[in-house]
Amino acid sequence: MAARFASVFGAAPEGVWQAPGRVNLIGEHTDYNEGFVLPFAIDRTARVAVRRRPDSGIRLLSTFGNQGLTTADAGSLERGTAKGWTKYPLGVVWALQQIGLPVRGLDLLLDSDVPRGAGLASSHAIECAVISALNELSAAGLDTRDMVLATQRAENDFVGAPTGIMDQSASLRGGAGHALFLDCRDQSCRLVPFDAEAAGLVLLVIDTKVSHSHAGGGYASRRASCELGAEVLGVKALRDVGMEDLEEASGLLDPETYRRVRHVVTENDRVLQVVGLLGSAGPAAIGPLLDASHASMRDDFEISCPELDLAVEAARAAGAVGARMTGGGFGGSAIALTPVAAEQQVRAAVERAFAGAGYVAPEIFSVRPSAGAMRLA
Ligand code: GLA
Repeated sequence: MAARFASVFGAAPEGVWQAPGRVNLIGEHTDYNEGFVLPFAIDRTARVAVRRRPDSGIRLLSTFGNQGLTTADAGSLERGTAKGWTKYPLGVVWALQQIGLPVRGLDLLLDSDVPRGAGLASSHAIECAVISALNELSAAGLDTRDMVLATQRAENDFVGAPTGIMDQSASLRGGAGHALFLDCRDQSCRLVPFDAEAAGLVLLVIDTKVSHSHAGGGYASRRASCELGAEVLGVKALRDVGMEDLEEASGLLDPETYRRVRHVVTENDRVLQVVGLLGSAGPAAIGPLLDASHASMRDDFEISCPELDLAVEAARAAGAVGARMTGGGFGGSAIALTPVAAEQQVRAAVERAFAGAGYVAPEIFSVRPSAGAMRLA
């Protein structure tokens, strides 16, 4: 990467940083409700080589896409002006400027093997690699919590996607062999051992190839329903509603808002149960909770789609111990926790089911919990 950088920009980079995508094991649409999530960093990463420039020019190139060399000026970054993947690095530069760090000119080369549009936080991986680089190069001294909030600001206010803090947290704070149990109210977290392999399991990702965007309407409208629910119930966030409050809530909320609220409340409860089970019984025991999470997203939060439902059903019927869609929904990927002995039959069954339904062939691959963002060179 350093050689490619030098041939494009005429000088060696000052360094190379990488940050992973993520899979969320459980805890969907709970982050912006100040609830609990349990994602892990995956062994697919974005990598960025960077060199600061003496002026305010920014030159960006990626090894993917067809966007060619793009230029911008650090002195005049504005929401809505950046195109394609350049929104993410430019959004980070913009967000750092907003919090008072005078980031200026840069040459930047980006590479990534996180599948894009697959619900695995490929954009956050880019943002987290870039912020790790700029934090270190400018000696800004941001800790991971500050970096999570700055990249969230880039997503919300520059890219225009009203997302929470889960993806950046997994990418910046994740650890090999562990899932990240994160309390999104105060960003406190704990790494929970999640060793599927030792339990004879493999975590399969089924990318349905149905692409989604969280800058579109569905994600924002679910978020608005949650805010409405919290307001009617008189709480700061849905985090403050417990399982025992649901019956009363059903009388206070319209039926749709109630279903949205019920998803968030039960999902928070499932995260806590999964964390408990991982500690006491191991990964094989969490299957039914993954299944229940999917049903809740399909029926109450209504963010699944026929391809995700089929992936989950086919995987389970072929021997997965549990399966659910992962990420924001409306497309993207499902995960299937599968006994190693059943891996081939699960893969084949999902492929067969997709072909039979006339869907585009899914991409199926295994992931393992991996290290968070780091400097490579
Ligand atoms: C996307 C967002 C996250 C989170 C999930 C749903 O991945 O970026 O903040 O809200 O959707 O759990």
